[in-house]
Amino acid sequence: MEQSLVARFAEVTEAAALAGYSWIGRGDKNAADGAAVAAMRECLNQLPMDAEIVIGEGEIDNAPMLYIGEKLGQGGSGVDIAVDPIEGTRMTAQGQSHAVAVLAAGTRGSLLKAPDMYMEKLVVGPQARGVIDLHKPLHENLNAIAKAKAKPLSELTVVTLAKPRHEGLIRELHALGVKVFAIADGDVAASILTCQSDSEVDVMYCIGGAPEGVVSAAAIRALGGDMQARLLPRDQVKGDSEENIAIAKSECQRCQAQQVEVNAVLTLKQLAGSDQVVFAATGITDGDLLAGVKMQGEQMSCETLLVDGVSKRIRRIQSLYPRSKSLG
Ligand code: FBP
Repeated sequence: MEQSLVARFAEVTEAAALAGYSWIGRGDKNAADGAAVAAMRECLNQLPMDAEIVIGEGEIDNAPMLYIGEKLGQGGSGVDIAVDPIEGTRMTAQGQSHAVAVLAAGTRGSLLKAPDMYMEKLVVGPQARGVIDLHKPLHENLNAIAKAKAKPLSELTVVTLAKPRHEGLIRELHALGVKVFAIADGDVAASILTCQSDSEVDVMYCIGGAPEGVVSAAAIRALGGDMQARLLPRDQVKGDSEENIAIAKSECQRCQAQQVEVNAVLTLKQLAGSDQVVFAATGITDGDLLAGVKMQGEQMSCETLLVDGVSKRIRRIQSLYPRSKSLG
């Protein structure tokens, strides 16, 4: 992917974050998401590429923008895009920390094309690359990760989502003696933290969204970490109500159409199959990974993390925009 294009993806997540800023603390997560989606789409459409959304805001029938299969850009080389315009819509709406705008881009065919459904994800940093295997029980993986990081299990920190479905998991982790950071939302930022040497986070393990999983995979590949995942139908995650069974049936049909297997272990290579990937994230509210958008007089400041899988260059970009750009 051309270097000139790589840098432009920072502008895309910045546009989404600035749009999301207007909705911080307003209690309306759909409006926050809608504003970020529209801003991201407008920005992506200006780029010199022939892009397709491979995983994003859902299917064409229920997502008017950034739906799976949507084509974007002014023409050029083929690019796959995975988006989550606001990773942390609830955090944004409630004025809480750690909301970010994220996307991943890769050369055509490099990012997993899958429905917007649930995904089990296990993520580690570079020191534990090659030792994870989702075919094996979690405790075996944690022992292997601890060994690779030359620390006892009691010193291992696992981040997961504090969701009812993870109550048993959190009990299991405590019984094993590992430290558990259970966060309300936001597994992308937590996944990236596994690859940062100054972070306490060793492992991210959860069942969360598949778009977040594919976006994370591009970042983890570029940062030299490792990840495995499984697509899970809704009834396996949220219970077998009639509604969940119907949704699960349609998810499985869409997986079949997209030629991706449900419940199969997906390796990092299957999630992000090339080094020609780019990850961009811009903070909306302050978090461990990035500072949030701030108003500075007539300007808005924001911080972006841009990772290029080819050069392995990691950039932290501080930008100032005129206030009108975000507030209309
Ligand atoms: P969104 O803000 O995009 O909805 O994502 C927040 C998040 O916590 C993700 O980090 C996670 O993967 C997913 O939601 C989990 O989904 P659910 O809220 O349905 O459990």
